[in-house]
Amino acid sequence: MGLSTVTHPSSTISAEAEAFDWRWNLDGATREERDILGRMLYEVKRFVTAMQRGDQPYILSLLGIAETGKTHLAKRVNAFFRKYLELYVDERTQARLCRRGGRVEWRDVASGARLGDWTMVEDIKHDWLVIFDDVGAEHQTADAFTMSVLDRILNERVGRKWTMITANASLCTIAEQWDVRIASRLRRDGGVCVDLPPTMRMYGKRIWTKAA
Ligand SMILES: Nc1ncnc2c1ncn2[C@@H]1O[C@H](COP(=O)(O)OP(=O)(O)OP(=O)(O)O)[C@@H](O)[C@H]1O
Ligand SMILES: [Mg+2]
Repeated sequence: MGLSTVTHPSSTISAEAEAFDWRWNLDGATREERDILGRMLYEVKRFVTAMQRGDQPYILSLLGIAETGKTHLAKRVNAFFRKYLELYVDERTQARLCRRGGRVEWRDVASGARLGDWTMVEDIKHDWLVIFDDVGAEHQTADAFTMSVLDRILNERVGRKWTMITANASLCTIAEQWDVRIASRLRRDGGVCVDLPPTMRMYGKRIWTKAA
């Protein structure tokens, strides 16, 4: 399966997103890899720009092959949020306010819920931004219980709150092996899925060990 992205009409990137240090190294990548990883970074820049502009929230999903920088970008989006979005001044009252949110490892949310601790689930349902990192990594394949937890959270957030997801599975695998409702929510209300093709397989180890 190739890269799939939904193109939005307004695709300008803010100066802050353009100038931000994404630490995105493409040295040694082939032209195809550059194209695909460049588009993944572009979708990330578009996502943070949309948050800055106050657009209608959508879900950005980075999906597929391991070690292609999905968690890396999740961490950088978190850093961008801390730098530019977390604190803001309310225009009407001039009050200094704080937006809740950030990156969470999905396995922590899933294991809390599994043990009957729903506080984290309830908290993050309403956060301004949530970045769920490594969804499905809690098991080799995601099980029905954790997927129903994710489905409930996404149902609450879709179209209302900014949400980013990284998963080591393609959209096709999510639909066929995890939960078809989740795959459909990821595309709903302007949701953007960057689905990395299997040809990327060798990329991570080859490039990052060299660059490190
Ligand atoms: N484009 C990049 N530029 C610089 N470093 C990168 C890039 N992509 C990945 N890395 C580095 O490679 C390592 C693996 O990347 P990362 O953990 O983000 O992969 P992943 O796609 O989340 O993999 P998984 O699906 O296994 O969770 C990390 O140390 C990360 O910082
Ligand atoms: Mg990861």
